[in-house]
Amino acid sequence: MSTELVLEAERVAENAYAPYSRYRVGAVVRARDGREFAGVNVENAAYPLGICAERSAIAAAVSAGLRPGDLEAIGITAAPCGGCRQWLHEFRIEQVSYRDERGELHTTTATALLPGAWTLPG
Ligand code: THU
Repeated sequence: MSTELVLEAERVAENAYAPYSRYRVGAVVRARDGREFAGVNVENAAYPLGICAERSAIAAAVSAGLRPGDLEAIGITAAPCGGCRQWLHEFRIEQVSYRDERGELHTTTATALLPGAWTLPG
């Protein structure tokens, strides 16, 4: 169940580096081969340089050699932002689970989260 990934993400969120917003986010992505990669938001004094938890987790998977199509599910402690939705779409993550601001769990697809997503023409 990919909602279990949300519970894992909630544990990993404790490692977030979020001294500016004080809003800790965690994400755990699972590959088709069963490997899991965790990410947290990492903020910076130069605010726009911070990275979201989802992108941090996907970057960890890519660093281990995984590519679009290799990742089947992700659990996130919050609803993904617009930029992260584009990353989820890029990596064709089928099951995206997250807990919304009211505490409810959702599971959807990257495509449903970003209709009309940008892809390079041609
Ligand atoms: N954040 C994430 O990590 N993921 C999202 O999808 C939304 C926002 C982080 C960025 C920033 O460190 C903090 O949440 C407050 O916006």
